[in-house]
Amino acid sequence: MIILGIESSCDETAAAIVEDGVKILSNVVVSQIDIHAAYGGVIPEVAARSHIEAIQPVINKSLTDANLTWNDIDAIAVTHTPGLVGSLLVGTLAARTEAILHNKPFYPTHHLKSHIYANWLSGHQPEFPLLAAVISGGHTQIIYMKRHDHFDIIGTTRDDAIGECFDKVAKILGLPYPGGPSIAKAAETGDQHKYHLPIPQVSNLDFSFSGLKTAVLRAVQKKLNLPITTPSHELKNLLTEQQISDFASSFQFTAVKILIQKLQKASTAHPAKSILLAGGVSANQVLRDELTKSFAKTHQVYFPEPQYSTDNGAMVASAAYFSAQSGDQPTDPYQLDISPRSVIY
Ligand code: KG4
Ligand code: ZN
Repeated sequence: MIILGIESSCDETAAAIVEDGVKILSNVVVSQIDIHAAYGGVIPEVAARSHIEAIQPVINKSLTDANLTWNDIDAIAVTHTPGLVGSLLVGTLAARTEAILHNKPFYPTHHLKSHIYANWLSGHQPEFPLLAAVISGGHTQIIYMKRHDHFDIIGTTRDDAIGECFDKVAKILGLPYPGGPSIAKAAETGDQHKYHLPIPQVSNLDFSFSGLKTAVLRAVQKKLNLPITTPSHELKNLLTEQQISDFASSFQFTAVKILIQKLQKASTAHPAKSILLAGGVSANQVLRDELTKSFAKTHQVYFPEPQYSTDNGAMVASAAYFSAQSGDQPTDPYQLDISPRSVIY
């Protein structure tokens, strides 16, 4: 089954063609990072307008790169939730139009489900039951899957998402957007034990990341002998390069530790054969190394290839394939709606 997957929920316009959920025939991603970097974050209206310009060329390129025509496509899948309203509207409208024009079965998919299925794109077949840490700019969840297309949320964040925390800490340190890769790079030359940052004591398998962000802010203010009322934008350019690296490294060390500790707790309560990472933060190499170190003896450990960690269309096509295999029926493209917020289904 050859599926064209379309993704536009945030700031990447993406389309890919995947065979049987695992074999990538093409993968086209147009990132808006350079546009939003000037503002230090995603501007929803700008994102929607950029998607409008990019969506059709991206879809066309996914076909030409795969050397296929519409006749070869068996189904179309698209992210319809969650995400930025304007961004979702552009991708879903394009996908609905193509599905109607070319009379293709149509599969709307959930963005977090797609991130999880990015793990199948590398040709791996993670065994069930499994624990998936879905860690992105907008989400932090631990999901227990007993089988394909079956999701139990067993832990979630009570405030900021982990990726959001990376992005906000990067801003405090004066590092460019997106914060995750900037922090990871700055941390390479830093001392991860230089600053002791607190581990939030949240009961059960939930997370809290807003306190960690504030702890970095307070530690920076203290280092610079500034009052706690000093706004974060006034801290820029006051730290030395080494201090920035030490803060980035200490923060990354703590964020990774929080996640690993929760996954350890989760794996005790919910026996699993595999543990996998999903979502943009799964690109973090220190996290990958720590996960492997902590779980490789007891579990199969998976993370997506780096280019499939962040938003892409291939993961959308893969998720739709496994949904269809599990019995999900196609949706009427005339009826599809979008939803900015929703739990994984
Ligand atoms: O999954 P994604 O592309 O979009 C959302 O669905 O949110 O994730 C984007 C998030 C951003 O917060 C970004 O800073 C973070 O993933 N990220 C990283 C790294 N690469 C991207 N965080 C930590 N380390 C990285 N190497
Ligand atoms: Zn995402």
